[in-house]
Order: sequence, then C-alpha cells, then structure tokens
Amino acid sequence: MKRIIFAVMFLALPCLSFGAGGEGYPLKSAPIDPHDKASLQRGAKLFVNYCMGCHSLEHQRYNRMGRDIGLTDEQVKENLIFTGAKVGDTMKNAMPKADAKRWFGVTPPDLTLIARSRGVDYLYTYLQTFYQDPSRPFGVNNAVFPNAGMPHVLWQLQGMQKPIYEVHKDASGHETKVLKDFELVQPGSMSPPEFKEAMADLTNFLAYAGEPIKLERQKIGIWVLLFLVLAFGVFYLLKKEYWKDVH
Ligand code: HEC
Repeated sequence: MKRIIFAVMFLALPCLSFGAGGEGYPLKSAPIDPHDKASLQRGAKLFVNYCMGCHSLEHQRYNRMGRDIGLTDEQVKENLIFTGAKVGDTMKNAMPKADAKRWFGVTPPDLTLIARSRGVDYLYTYLQTFYQDPSRPFGVNNAVFPNAGMPHVLWQLQGMQKPIYEVHKDASGHETKVLKDFELVQPGSMSPPEFKEAMADLTNFLAYAGEPIKLERQKIGIWVLLFLVLAFGVFYLLKKEYWKDVH
C-alpha cells in the first residue's frame, strides 16, 4: 500500500511544478559568473550610475565592494562615488525615503538581498522587460512585475519596446491575451546584444552584493555553534555540581 502511495505521489510531482509555474512570462536564465571581475566592475558602474539615485545597498561599503571586485580605493573614489560619500561609507542612496514614497507611491527597496530573495533569473528578466504601456503612470509596465512602480530607468540604453501578445483560447472559447515577446520601436544607445550583456553584468553585481552578507552570516553561525558547545560544557559541569550530593 505504501508503495502505491509513493508511486502516486511521484507521478503527481510534475503536475505540481506545472501548476506553480503558472502562465507568467518565462524567466531568462542569467549568464552570470561571480569570478568575472571585469563583469562585476561594469555592473557596479551601471548600478551607481542608474540605480543608486533611488536604491541603496545599505549593508555594503564602497571600499569593501571595491576590494571584492578588484578595484583600489582610489579607483572607487574616481569611478564609483558621485555623492560626496567617503570610501568607507555604506552605499546609501541620496533620496529621502519619504520623498521617494511620495513620488513613486512605494519606497524603492534596498537591493542588497534582492538577488537572493527574487532570484538572479528574475532580476535579469525584470531589467530587460520594461515595455510601453500608456495606462501606467510612467508609461511603462513590466513583464515579470506587472504594474511595477519603477520607471524604465534604462530606456536610453535599451530604447523603448512594444509588447507583442498572443491570444489564447480555452475550451469554452474564452480568450486571454498573453504577453509573448517585444518589438523595439525606438532604439537605444546600445544594440540589443550589448544591452543583454550589460544586464548580465548588473545582475552579476547584484548577486555579488548579497554574498558578503552570506559570508558574514556563516561567520556568525560559527560563533553561535562555539557558544553552544561552551554553554553545554558549563551546563554539564553545573549539573554534575548540583546533583553531586543527591545520590
Ligand atoms: C527613479 C527611481 C528608481 C531608479 C533610478 C531605479 N529604481 Fe528600481 N525601483 C524603484 C521603485 C519605486 C521600486 C518599487 C516598485 C514597486 O514596488 O512597485 C523599484 C523596485 C525595484 C526592484 C524590485 C522588484 C521586485 O520584484 O520587488 C528591483 C529589482 C529594482 N528596482 C532594480 C533596479 C535597478 C537594477 C536599477 C538600476 C538600473 C533601478 N532599480 C533603478 C525606483 C527606481
């Protein structure tokens, strides 16, 4: 009987994952390499130029980031700091949170952990799938984050694209429009392959940004374990002491 139950569960697995996948826009697989320093540097440059106006990396310091991606403090100061921040400061954005909320309706989130909370494929796809939508406040929508409150900040690089829909008909003849692809209606300063590569660099950088925290957590974890071992020793000795006279 057990075996039959297992067999049924096993056979049902593909249905489950199919259900979870839903009908959303498919994510593109992000071709990133955390050891590619040149890519991380290009990503960092894109981030400070195009994202840091609104987003912070609050847990990241400029000099730490510089060292990790292979830059000296001088290079960081010259190429990556525009805000008057010091090289040892954390990567805060200049925009007061209250203003941001007034302007966008939501506060742009800190991006330190975004690659880990949403996944790198999501980020990579999100950055490439802003498209024209006159019904939205900023005139754009996003394929993987419908009704996102973020403007298409990279339109000068990517250009502007129009959505292409496919009409799906279900068994009862009900029609739904499904976002299929995009058509570039206004070119940007980068060609489509160049933009794709730039977004891989930016995704690579954001994936890196979540990593130092991971390392730190592992470090803390080791201390916690050491503490537990020590505490156990102390408790054990105490117990021996308390029970010494009892039996
Ligand atoms: C003009 C301000 C502004 C700039 C510049 C900006 N963003 Fe945003 N971003 C926002 C706002 C506002 C939100 C919140 C959107 C929402 O929750 O609807 C957001 C949300 C996001 C999210 C979260 C998406 C999610 O699924 O939760 C990511 C990732 C992101 N931005 C990445 C970037 C990157 C990378 C750049 C640089 C290329 C950038 N942003 C530049 C305003 C901005």
